[in-house]
Amino acid sequence: MTSAESTTIFTRSWSLYDLITQHNYMFHQEIYAGVGRLLSLREDTGRYRLLDLGCGNARYLAHCLKQSPPAVYEGVDLSEAALIEARGYLADLHGSAITLTQGDLLEAVEATGKTWDVIFTGFAVHHLTSADKARFFQAVGRCLAEKGWLILVDVVREENQSREDYLDGYLKWMRDTWSKIPPDQLEEACTHVHDHDYPEYFSTLQTMAAAAGLQANRIVNQYGQHHTLLFARSSMP
Ligand SMILES: C[S@@+](CC[C@H](N)C(=O)[O-])C[C@H]1O[C@@H](n2cnc3c(N)ncnc32)[C@H](O)[C@@H]1O
Repeated sequence: MTSAESTTIFTRSWSLYDLITQHNYMFHQEIYAGVGRLLSLREDTGRYRLLDLGCGNARYLAHCLKQSPPAVYEGVDLSEAALIEARGYLADLHGSAITLTQGDLLEAVEATGKTWDVIFTGFAVHHLTSADKARFFQAVGRCLAEKGWLILVDVVREENQSREDYLDGYLKWMRDTWSKIPPDQLEEACTHVHDHDYPEYFSTLQTMAAAAGLQANRIVNQYGQHHTLLFARSSMP
């Protein structure tokens, strides 16, 4: 599987993902309210540098950033369509230097020459293989500032739950509850999840993070299998 294949659903158009998030089926309202609260705890509002990996159209993070603006925002995504929309959603951040780059998130974090105060990634890392997730954490460990945070929003498997059991449960939940998505689009979303979602256990992510020098971590919140995780070197709010 290539990265491009795993993101086809996001490259053509954003309408299906927007429809899913508008009905809050993936808990974007609660999750991004939590991300906003986290960012408001930082003491460097207006001065911090934020790297958003798999930013999509940045619709929900943009709202958080209006409350806690960064000095520098860089978004990376494979989808050109998403980045065109992101430019609009981020337009109100007048005091922030905005860069949007079309490219692979793993390559971007491995290649960055900057130090980042916050690395954010929402519902993107589960597309990576386990080996690439470990590379992702290693790269984050190299470019995260001493008091920096990795905020990782993603689906996570229950401990010892197989991927097959995870998919059975998640796809059933989608078909049972995502009732406002037209049937053909719901099946498109289910096929995407079935073919491209590789969530890990929290314990696996903790191990990968620790190996990269990020010893502190916690679950900020959890809605079903949708988690907000915070990783740092030693201390955190
Ligand atoms: C489900 S959307 C999430 C968008 C947004 N971050 C959010 O939380 O709503 C996943 C995004 O990650 C992007 N993506 C997935 N794998 C990627 C990769 N390897 N490199 C760059 N972008 C990737 C997709 O193109 C898509 O825009």
